Amino acid sequence: MAMVCLSDFEAYAKKYLPKIAWDFFAAGADDCSTRDENILAYKRIHFRPRMLRDVSMMDIRSKLLGTEISFPVGIAPTGFHQLACPDGEKSTARAAKAMNTCYIASTYSTCTLEEISMAAPGGLRWFQLYIHRNRAVSQKLVQRAEALGFQGLVLTADLPYTGKRRDDVRNGFRLPPHMKLKNLEGAFEVCKMSPLDPSVTWNDIYWLRSLTHLPIIIKGILTKEDAELAVRHGVQGIIVSNHGGRQLDGGPATIEALVEVVEAVQGRVEVYLDGGIRKGSDVLKALALGAKCVFIGRPALWGLAYKGEEGLQEVLRILQDEFRLSMALAGCASVSEIGRHLVQFSKL
Ligand code: FNR
Repeated sequence: MAMVCLSDFEAYAKKYLPKIAWDFFAAGADDCSTRDENILAYKRIHFRPRMLRDVSMMDIRSKLLGTEISFPVGIAPTGFHQLACPDGEKSTARAAKAMNTCYIASTYSTCTLEEISMAAPGGLRWFQLYIHRNRAVSQKLVQRAEALGFQGLVLTADLPYTGKRRDDVRNGFRLPPHMKLKNLEGAFEVCKMSPLDPSVTWNDIYWLRSLTHLPIIIKGILTKEDAELAVRHGVQGIIVSNHGGRQLDGGPATIEALVEVVEAVQGRVEVYLDGGIRKGSDVLKALALGAKCVFIGRPALWGLAYKGEEGLQEVLRILQDEFRLSMALAGCASVSEIGRHLVQFSKL
């Protein structure tokens, strides 16, 4: 089967993954309106392409907090990669390194942070944190990540509780017994309820700041008010995200929320986006509207399901080629030439 675009990997994953794993990856909350809106919203944005601008030499490199990446697409944190391929997050780390981009490893990884680091030494990695009710558990994780050379700490802000994902409820989704949340081993047994702390507030950013020298990036921001609070609390980056539509159903598509966040932030910190990126032209639209970089969630899992590390590399390579082509056809020879002038954006 020739893999031409990301939907080909989606079709493969749907066909070959066990239903319970496919449903878990695909799930959105409630009616899945926000999940689907993340994708549909791109179709309402049109380019204003420019012509005759010498696109014979293309430079698609970018930087994340000062570190160069080969193109402005990284891998969003998603849990349980062993559900997609046997080597789990080790494959993800290797593919991200091979493609010279950033991988945000989830608290809910099925490999330890040490295994992830050793699989791809020197790769650019950030660690995504869910704050545990037992703060000592989170403190240890953050400090382990920093000691292992992770270069950023991503605090996920949109999951005080897990959204209601109907298929997971119907399937009674749980990890198969041979897979473990390896970074939290031991920490779960003491908790009868969800181990995640729903009492987290903005003040906890100061607590995190006291634990680590790593830049802090906050993930799950959708409004100008929260963007302003994030900047005032001293974070270095904001990921505009609605968790792939898995949390509050009925919120905006991330590409729409991006506009108000970018306007509020006024360049004081880097702004990124995830949700619904399925083509190179989606990446171009997000950058035109002010994102410094975007991250992919489900497409990375489809790549892993297709052929592990190699499959994920293929997903990234296709996205990279499509992004380069879209840039050239829109008249941009380098990422610095991408700007708001490139899109017409009406909220239909
Ligand atoms: C996620 N997401 C997520 N986010 C996070 O901060 N920590 C996590 O452990 C997870 N786990 C997770 C599992 C699965 C199966 C999915 C689909 C998503 C959310 C993720 O980081 C990201 O916000 C979305 O996946 C982006 O949307 P797309 O690219 O999947 O459309």
